[in-house]
Amino acid sequence: MNLPLFPTPAHAVPRVEGRAKVTGAARYASDVRLPRTAYAYLLTSRIGRGAVQAFDLTSARAVPGVLDILTHEMVGDAIPQRPSLYAGGYLADSVRPLGSAEVAHWGQPVAMVLAETFEAAREAAGRVDISYDEAPTAVAIDAGTVQPLEPMTVTTGDVAAAFSAAPVTVDARYSTPTQHQNPMELFATHCVWDGDRLTVHEPSQYLNNVKFGLADQLGIEPDRIRVVSTYVGGAFGAKGFLTQRTALVALAARRLGRPVVLVPTREQGFTLSGYRAETRHHVELAADRDGRLTAMRHEGWELTSRADTLAMGAASMTARLYACPNISVRVNAVAADRSTPGFMRAPGEMPYGFALESALDELAVKLAMDPVELRRVNDTLTDPVGGLPYTSRSLMRCFDEAAAAFGWAARSPEPGSMTDGDWRVGWGCAAAFYPTYAGASAARVRLTADGRVHVASAGHELGQGMTTMMAQVAAEELGVSVDRVAVAIGDSDLPPAIVAGGSSSTASVAPAIMAACAAIRRRLDAATPAAVIPAMEASGMGAVEELAEIRPHGVAPDGMRALYRGQAGPAGGVHLPDRVQFALGAQFVEVRVHALTHEIRVPRAVGAFACGRIINPRTAHSQLVGGMIWGIGSALFEATEIDERNGAYINANLAEYLVPVNADIGDVQAIMVPEEDRAVNAAGVKGVGEIGVVGVAAAIANAVYHATGRRVRDLPIRIEHVL
Ligand code: MOS
Repeated sequence: MNLPLFPTPAHAVPRVEGRAKVTGAARYASDVRLPRTAYAYLLTSRIGRGAVQAFDLTSARAVPGVLDILTHEMVGDAIPQRPSLYAGGYLADSVRPLGSAEVAHWGQPVAMVLAETFEAAREAAGRVDISYDEAPTAVAIDAGTVQPLEPMTVTTGDVAAAFSAAPVTVDARYSTPTQHQNPMELFATHCVWDGDRLTVHEPSQYLNNVKFGLADQLGIEPDRIRVVSTYVGGAFGAKGFLTQRTALVALAARRLGRPVVLVPTREQGFTLSGYRAETRHHVELAADRDGRLTAMRHEGWELTSRADTLAMGAASMTARLYACPNISVRVNAVAADRSTPGFMRAPGEMPYGFALESALDELAVKLAMDPVELRRVNDTLTDPVGGLPYTSRSLMRCFDEAAAAFGWAARSPEPGSMTDGDWRVGWGCAAAFYPTYAGASAARVRLTADGRVHVASAGHELGQGMTTMMAQVAAEELGVSVDRVAVAIGDSDLPPAIVAGGSSSTASVAPAIMAACAAIRRRLDAATPAAVIPAMEASGMGAVEELAEIRPHGVAPDGMRALYRGQAGPAGGVHLPDRVQFALGAQFVEVRVHALTHEIRVPRAVGAFACGRIINPRTAHSQLVGGMIWGIGSALFEATEIDERNGAYINANLAEYLVPVNADIGDVQAIMVPEEDRAVNAAGVKGVGEIGVVGVAAAIANAVYHATGRRVRDLPIRIEHVL
C-alpha cells in the first residue's frame, strides 16, 4: 500500500501501548497462565437442528491427562436460562449450549473436554462419539420465517401518490452476505476462582456487561467477579457482549478447583459469537427531472436465529440522509436455524448504505446527472422525517474535498468510456454515514505532587487507540506532557465505561476525563490547564483525585445506574427528541475490470470524512484507512459460505474466508475534513471507528457499473458477476 506521507502534528501521538505490542510484552487473555491451569476444548454440533441422542465418552476419557468432560448431563440447569441483550438481559444470544440435549444450530457447543494440556483436550474431543436425532432445517434467509418489526417502521408524507406522479423512478433489490469479523485474537476465556471470587480474563468490548451478566448466570454477587481485558486483539463487534462460553469455563474451573483456559478454534468462533447477518433490500426512489427526491421506500430483511429476534434496522438512518418529503421504510427479521447474529463494524450502516447509495447511483444514471450533483441537490440540514436539525453536516464538503483529491472532474460519464489498455476503468462514489452516539461513563483522575497523572476508566483497548486518547485528553486538560500520564484500562474494578461499540468510546469517555480534570482544576483554583502544575506545587498537597460521572445528552435519567449494572447503551444518532447527529463522509474509488479475464481491481480509493474533533489524527487515520480497506474486502471478497442443508459454514477459516491482502490494496487516502460540533458532546467528538467502511461497497458497485455497464446488486462482486 502506498500511503501519502502523513503529516504529524503534535497531537498525532504514537499509541502508548505500541511498544508493548510490537515487542510481545503485551499480555492477552490467552497468554495468561497460572499454576495448575487446565485446558478446555469445545466440541460443537455437526447437525443443523435436533438433539443429542447419546455420547460415548469411553475412548475420550482414556486419553492420558483428561480431567473431565462436560455435557448437558452435568451442566443442564447449573447455568440457567437468562435473557439475551435483545430481551433486556446481558447475553449475546440465549441458546444455552449445554443446557439440554437440544441443538438449535450447527456449531453449537455440545461438550467441553478438560485436560492437563491443550493437546490432550483436543485429542479427547476427537474421540467423543456423538449420536444425534437430526431434525429438518431452514438455514437460508430465503427459507426463513419473516417477522415484520413494526417499531422500526418510519413513514412520512404520501409515498404512493408521489410515486405515481414521479417522472423518474428506480426500483431495485440488493443483497449482502453473511460475514464474520475474524479478529486476529480468538475468543479466549481464562477463569480462576479464589474462594468465592472469580477472575475472568477475556477480550471484551464491555467489561461490565460480562461481569454483571456472568453474575446473573452463575447466581453470585457481581462484586465477586472481576473481568480483565487489558488488550483486545481486534473485536469489531464480535466481543461486544457476553457469550455463553464464559459461564461454561467458570463452571469448569469451579468443578476442577483449578484455573481453566479455553481458546476456541477460529472455526468454532464463527458460531460462538454474533456476526453480520445476510440482508436483502428493496429500494424504490422517485425524483423530479432535476434530481430532487420526491419519494423513497426502503425495506430491509435481516437474518436472525429462532432464539433471538434482532435486526440492525438502519433504514431508520437511510430515511434521514437526504431531503425527501415522502418516505416509507420497513425492517423485517427473518428467523432461521442459525446461531444468533450480532454486530459487525458499521452493522446496519454498511448493508443499508450499500443499498441506498447504489440506488442513488442508478437514479443518477437515469437522470443523466453527475452522482455528486445528485447528492448536492438533495443535501439537507434537516432530518426529513422528524424535521429535526442536524447538529452539523459536512456531507458536501466531504464530497467536494474527496472529488478534488480523486480528480473526479476528469471522469467521462458514459459506462465503458474509460479504458487503459486491456483494463476497463470505472469511477464511482457514495456517501458514508455513521450516527454519533455517546453513553454514560466514569473516569477517575489523580494528579500527584511530582506532576504525574493517573487516569482510570474501565475502557477497552481494541487496538483503536483508546489508551492513547485517554492519556492525551488528561495531558491536555491538566497541562502536562503525555509521557507524564499513566492510564489504567480494561479492568472491571475501575470506574465503568460504556460498551466500546457504536464508535462511541471517545465521545463517551473523553468528556468524563475532561470533567474529572476540570474538578481537579477547581480544587487547585487553576483557571487554565497551564496553571495546574504551578498551583499543585504551591498547594503543598501530595495528590488530588477526582471521579467524574457523565451522562450525555439523550441518556435516560437512570443511565448512570444502568452503567454500573453493565446495561447502559449509547444514545444519539436518530434517537434523540430534539436533533439528529451523524458523522458523514464521501467515498471515491477507481475500479479496473480486465476486458479478457474480468478480474476486478481497486487501484485507488479516496475517502473524506467529517467526524467532529479528531483527538489523535494518527490513530483516527488508521481507523479510517482500515475501515476503507475493510470496505474493499466487503465489496469484493468477504462472504461466509453456508451449507444449505445444515447451516454449516464451509469456509470458517482464514484460508478460505477471503479478505484482501496487501497485493489487493492500492492507494488508500483518508482525508479528515475539519469540523467543529460542540453540540454532540462536551468533547466535540463524533467517532471514527466505523464510518470508514460505510459506502465503500456502493462506490465500488457504482464504479463497476461505470467500467462495464453491468449493475451488480449482490455482494460480494466477483468475476462471475461481470462476465
Ligand atoms: Mo461495533 S460493530 O459497534 O463494535
